[in-house]
Amino acid sequence: MTANELRQLYINFFTERGHRQIASASLIPENDPSVLFTTAGMHPLVPYLLGEKHPLGRRLADCQKCLRTGDIDSVGDAYHCTFFEMLGNWSLGDYFKKESITFSHEFLTIALKFPQEKISVTCFAGDADAPRDEEAADIWRSLGYPDERINFLPKSDNWWGPAGITGPCGPDTEIFYDTGKPKCGPDCRPGCHCGKYVEIWNNVFMQYFKDEFGKFSPLSQKNVDTGFGLERNLCIQNGVESVYDTELFVPVIKKAESLTGKKYADNLKAFRIIADHLRAATFILGDDRGIAPSNVDQGYVLRRLIRRAYRYLTQMNAPANAMSAIAQVIVDNYKEVYPELGRNHDFVIAQLNREEELFGRTLEAGMKIANKYLDGLIPPSLGGGRAALSRAPGGEAFNDNDKASPPAPMPGAAPLQERGELPAELAFKLYDTYGFPLEFTEELARERNISVDADGFHKLFAAHQEKSRAGAEQKFKGGLADHSEETTKLHTAAHLMNGALRRVLGDTVFQKGSNITAERLRFDFSSDRKVTPEELAEVERIVNEAIAAAVPVVCTEMSPADAHAAGAVGVFDSKYGDVVKVYSIEGYSKEICGGPHAANTADLGAFKIQKEESIAAGVRRIKAVIGDAAK
Ligand code: SER
Repeated sequence: MTANELRQLYINFFTERGHRQIASASLIPENDPSVLFTTAGMHPLVPYLLGEKHPLGRRLADCQKCLRTGDIDSVGDAYHCTFFEMLGNWSLGDYFKKESITFSHEFLTIALKFPQEKISVTCFAGDADAPRDEEAADIWRSLGYPDERINFLPKSDNWWGPAGITGPCGPDTEIFYDTGKPKCGPDCRPGCHCGKYVEIWNNVFMQYFKDEFGKFSPLSQKNVDTGFGLERNLCIQNGVESVYDTELFVPVIKKAESLTGKKYADNLKAFRIIADHLRAATFILGDDRGIAPSNVDQGYVLRRLIRRAYRYLTQMNAPANAMSAIAQVIVDNYKEVYPELGRNHDFVIAQLNREEELFGRTLEAGMKIANKYLDGLIPPSLGGGRAALSRAPGGEAFNDNDKASPPAPMPGAAPLQERGELPAELAFKLYDTYGFPLEFTEELARERNISVDADGFHKLFAAHQEKSRAGAEQKFKGGLADHSEETTKLHTAAHLMNGALRRVLGDTVFQKGSNITAERLRFDFSSDRKVTPEELAEVERIVNEAIAAAVPVVCTEMSPADAHAAGAVGVFDSKYGDVVKVYSIEGYSKEICGGPHAANTADLGAFKIQKEESIAAGVRRIKAVIGDAAK
C-alpha cells in the first residue's frame, strides 16, 4: 500500500461517514503563542472543541503535518519520528464513544483488513478527576474484544491533553497492533512499552477543560479527537521493519548512502537520524509560514535538527551541501501532497546550505576546545594527542563511528581509568556550546584511551532538559491556544489594523503573519518601505475611530468565491471546503477568518501602536496594544 493510498483510504472512509475533509494547517501555528509547532491534529481545532461553530460542520477529518521534539532522543529506533503525518477524525459535539470506537474497529478490520486478534486496546482506569472508562471497554467487548486484550491504565497512559497547561482534554482509548514478539514478562499486557505492542491510533474523548488551578470541569460539548499515525501504519501495512523502510524514507536514505558511500544496514541509527531530521527541517523551512534557523523558538529547534543531521553526515564524510541534496529528494517525494514544499523549494535549499556553512565554523572551534580538554587529561609520557585529533572533523578519526574499538593500551601503560576521564561538565559544555553530541565526544576521547563520564553527562543533560521544559512551560502559560477575552479582542484589533493599513498604504499590503499574546498584538505585513510616523498615526486614528463608533462584528458564512466577490481579504485554505466564515466590521474590515472575535469594536477600549520595524526584506512588523495599555 502506498502512503497516498493509506491517506485516501482513511479520508474516504470518514467522508463516507459524514465527515468533511479539512486541509492540513501550517506546522507553525498562527495566532497561538502557546506552542512552537503543531504537535497534533487537534491544535488548529481548539476553538471548535471549546464550542465555536466550525464552518464545515461537526464531523471533520484530515491529514495534519505534526512535529514533536519530545522524543528526539528516541529517533533511530523503528517507529519514532520528529516530523510525522497524523490522520484524524473529529466529532465536535456530535457522535461520541460508541461511534468513534466502532469507526476505528471497522476501519482497521474492514478497510485495512487487520486480523482482529492482532488488535488490542487500553482504556482509562479512573481516578478522582474522572471515572473508570467502563463505557469504552463495554463497546470494545461488544465488538468482540476479549478482556485479556483490554487493559485499564492510569492517567499517565490513558489521558490526552491539555497540550499546554490549560485546555480541552479527556480520557482516551488507545489502539495497539501486536507485533507478535514474545511478551517481555508475565505482566506484559496491551500498552506495555517493551515493543510488543505498537500504538497505532488514539481516540480521545475530549469532554473536560483543565483550568490553571488543575481543576477539570465538563466542556459544553463532548468531542472526539483521534490521531492515527501515517508512518507507523504504513510500516505495519507493508510488513516492513521500520518506518524508515517505507516509501516515505527509502529514496532519502538511498541518497544519503550514495553521498556518503556508506551502507544504511551498517549505520542504521545515523541514517535514520539524518533522514528524520532533514525531513523535519525541510517541512519547517518549506511551510508557507516557514522560518529560518535562529537561536530562538522554532528557529532554534530547526537549528538543532539541522546541526545534528550535519554532524552525522560529517562523520560519514559526506561532501559539501549534502543536506540540501537530501532535502531535494524529500521535496520531490512530497511535493504533490504538500505543494508548499515546491513553492518554497529555493528557501529550503538556501537555508540548509547557509546553516552548513555557519556550523562548519562552530564545529572547528569546538574541535579546538575538545583538543584542549583532552590534552589536559593525557600524561605527556603517553604521547598521542593532537596528531590523532587534527584529522577531525570528518577525517578518519570519525570514520568508524560506533563500530570502532578502542586502540589497545600501550605496553606498560596505566590501566584505562588511571589515564583520565573527561569530566561530565566538559563533555556537557562541548554539547551545549559547540553542539557536540556525547557519542562524538566519546569517539574523540577513545582515540586517546580516555573515557567520558557519561552518567554525569546524562544527569546534566536531564537537568538541562528540565530547565528547557520549564522555559517551554512559560510559553504554555495561558493554556494551549489562548482564547481568553484579551486575545479575542486583540484578534479583532488585528483585523481593524489590517483594514486601516490597506486604506493608508494601499491594497498591495498583505498580512504575512500575526502573533497574539494576552498582552499585545504583533502583526507582519508586506511593504517595501518604512511606514512614516504620519501614516502610523493615521492607522492608529482609523482604528480608534472604529472603536469609538462601536461597530458590531458580524460573522457570515459563504462560499470562498462569494467571499472574494464581497471583497473579503485573508486566506482560508478552502481546498476541501465550500463554506468559509467572513468577519465584517462595516466600513473598516472584511476578512475570511476562523474567529473567535469580540462582539463589538467598542469592547477594545483603545488602540495604540508601540513599534514599527523591518523584520525581513519587504516585511514590516507592528506591535500594538489595546484597552488600558493603550491609554
Ligand atoms: N490528540 C491525540 C494525539 O495526539 C489524538 O489525536 O494522540
